[in-house]
Amino acid sequence: MKTYVVFGGSRGIGSSLVSVLLRDGHNVVNISRKESDENHANLSNFSLDVLDKDWNSLPDLTEIHGLAYCPGSIDLKPLRRVKVEDMEEAMGINLYGALKAIQWAYPVMRKTPNASVVLFSTVAVSQGMPFHSVVASAKGAVEGFTKSLAAEFAPKIRVNCIAPSLTDTELAGDLLRDDKRREASAERHPLKRIGQREDIAHAAQYLLGEESSWVTGQVLHVDGGMSSIRV
Ligand SMILES: NC(=O)c1ccc[n+]([C@@H]2O[C@H](COP(=O)([O-])OP(=O)(O)OC[C@H]3O[C@@H](n4cnc5c(N)ncnc54)[C@H](OP(=O)(O)O)[C@@H]3O)[C@@H](O)[C@H]2O)c1
Repeated sequence: MKTYVVFGGSRGIGSSLVSVLLRDGHNVVNISRKESDENHANLSNFSLDVLDKDWNSLPDLTEIHGLAYCPGSIDLKPLRRVKVEDMEEAMGINLYGALKAIQWAYPVMRKTPNASVVLFSTVAVSQGMPFHSVVASAKGAVEGFTKSLAAEFAPKIRVNCIAPSLTDTELAGDLLRDDKRREASAERHPLKRIGQREDIAHAAQYLLGEESSWVTGQVLHVDGGMSSIRV
């Protein structure tokens, strides 16, 4: 039985990851503003807003085999409406939160054999998409952060990142708010559907676990083919 920490495991991709890790018999610590809906003896919840300056309320753990940092943003707007504050906000939740999470976990993870970190980017980093400058900039930073830390932490801790395309969660709710938008989004993907939380959670489960023990510094594109093929 291993111990995994999921930042943002109360809903979306993170909640699906919590479920698959529990199903595999692991201990899971969810850290988010609200508690997870899962009721399981191996799950504990800690309340934290990652945007808060002080992170005092986190648990003392003796081992952390894996950490996934799921909080993120999708702030789409044309450049003329982008403010510096938008960039700062996106960096806050996507990059600075991940930085603080890893700094908190590092002393324990470096002593835990085969530890692994998973971060989240977006398909919009490798594919230029209109109106994505804010999120693509912040997630581009996350990808650079991933590779730097993978080098710094090798061979003790692996660090990888998943770059999803549009996935059916609350975060993407506005983009998927009616059938017409859902169908058009599905149609844009070579595999002709949008992502489900489990599609991404299973990739995270792989990167956190020992099956990926020779994989580090990677950006895994889980995106229905969006970033790599034309049909
Ligand atoms: N969904 C997509 O289409 C898509 C596409 C590309 C990339 N991604 C990336 O994939 C990752 C997961 O996305 P998702 O769609 O699952 O997001 P989501 O539905 O918004 O879920 C985010 C999770 O993070 C937590 N969270 C959000 N803000 C927080 C804060 N300030 N402090 C603490 N916890 C916070 C939320 O819990 P609480 O509200 O309880 O705090 C929730 O558990 C994100 O990094 C996102 O950018 C998603």
